[in-house]
Amino acid sequence: MRITIIGAGYVGLVAAVCLAKLGHIVTAVDREHVVQDLQDNHLSIWESNLFDMLVISRSEGKLLFATDLIQASAGADALMIAVGTPTREDGQSDLSQVEHVAAQLFAAGSCPPLVIMKSTVPVGTCDKLEQSLQAAGIRTEVAFNPEFLRQGSAVKDFMHPDRIVFGCHSRQAEAKLRQLYHGIDAPIQVCDRRSAELIKYASNAFLAMKISFANMISDVCEGYEADIRQVMEGVGADRRIGPHFLQAGLGYGGSCFSKDLQSLLTSGKAIGRSLPLLEATAQINEERIPQMMDKLIALWGNPRGKRLGVLGISFKPQTNDVRDAPFLTLVQLCHLYGIDVQAYDPVVQHLSMKGVTQVDSAFEVSAGADAVIILTEWPQFIELNWVLMVQLMNQRILLDGRNILSDAMIARLITQEDVVYIPVGRPVVHSEEHDLEQAR
Ligand code: UDX
Repeated sequence: MRITIIGAGYVGLVAAVCLAKLGHIVTAVDREHVVQDLQDNHLSIWESNLFDMLVISRSEGKLLFATDLIQASAGADALMIAVGTPTREDGQSDLSQVEHVAAQLFAAGSCPPLVIMKSTVPVGTCDKLEQSLQAAGIRTEVAFNPEFLRQGSAVKDFMHPDRIVFGCHSRQAEAKLRQLYHGIDAPIQVCDRRSAELIKYASNAFLAMKISFANMISDVCEGYEADIRQVMEGVGADRRIGPHFLQAGLGYGGSCFSKDLQSLLTSGKAIGRSLPLLEATAQINEERIPQMMDKLIALWGNPRGKRLGVLGISFKPQTNDVRDAPFLTLVQLCHLYGIDVQAYDPVVQHLSMKGVTQVDSAFEVSAGADAVIILTEWPQFIELNWVLMVQLMNQRILLDGRNILSDAMIARLITQEDVVYIPVGRPVVHSEEHDLEQAR
């Protein structure tokens, strides 16, 4: 098939590269500077396999880039919309980029016979788009085909999804969508457009809710000296619940969960429904970093002028994305308290933020620090020489925001003098002779 994709951001580019890999001829359309970068094989996102696949598809002539949507979509079998739909300050989805695409189609008076909406859009958006295109005399059908990919494993998630959802209203549209995904072995759910739009929001809201649930229970664990890892292992072993997304820590970040939760809350309000589970999910998440900082400040006493070493800047490992990252909340709080931040991330570099010094290694983070906090669970942080890490610190307070240190490592650490190890949802551990008051 010949597919034009408007929007070569995370979702659009991954879809473009993967659809080209499936054998389609794909043209990805975006603004000039984005296209220029892609033509120079310069990727701003850090995503495993994506770069190699992009280079191969281009050399095979299956992946093209363009800036003119109308030219690029002339004669295409389908137009896929993968533009951003960020959240506005009032909580509503900002659909201006989708509207801009529609405006170009109206102006041209033509469009491929199938429009596939990939962007996450509020319920009813595809119905409206189809109605307005048809009202303008443009013969096309709009289908909704949500994307469930995770950053860091986006290519794998696209090629091996748990399911593929088609929200469409005709057999022709369904047949084209099936042809598009031919070669991917996954169950396909065909449903109406509105339900498909809601599947995307409800999936992300449910995942966020699982994480906040685990974080809420981790607070209970802390109060009763239980271990959240054991608790969630037992809970997740129930097949009705499942073991995934029950990792307690410093909360979820990223471009999707908070945004989609807000958008769903706003959709609820629009029909007079409050969605208290989602309110609580967001609130629990917002409290994670402040709660951890309270523990640190209780140890420090006066935080002003202290130096906090931070390991991990991106919102999770295997990505360089800092959108909605817990790091941003942490830096804001540190700024308020007058705490100096030294941060290291294996892939996020040259982040210019007031009060933050970026260094080139984990050891530089710990050298002279009054505490070190692990924000993201990069595998290389697990492997670090933690004994050396604490030896380099000024005050040996280690906040393990993702519970990555093994019990054996913790046991070794507390053979060192004056170490305090603060995990999430588990008891604080410290060196035998350590007097918590001394930390002040
Ligand atoms: C998410 C959805 O998983 C994906 O289906 C959707 O298409 C986009 O949003 P992504 O944002 O890339 O994907 O990351 P994900 O792996 O889901 O993690 C989101 C956040 O939750 C991260 O900050 C992660 O650290 C956190 N998380 C995840 C936890 O705190 N605990 C967990 O158990 C799992």
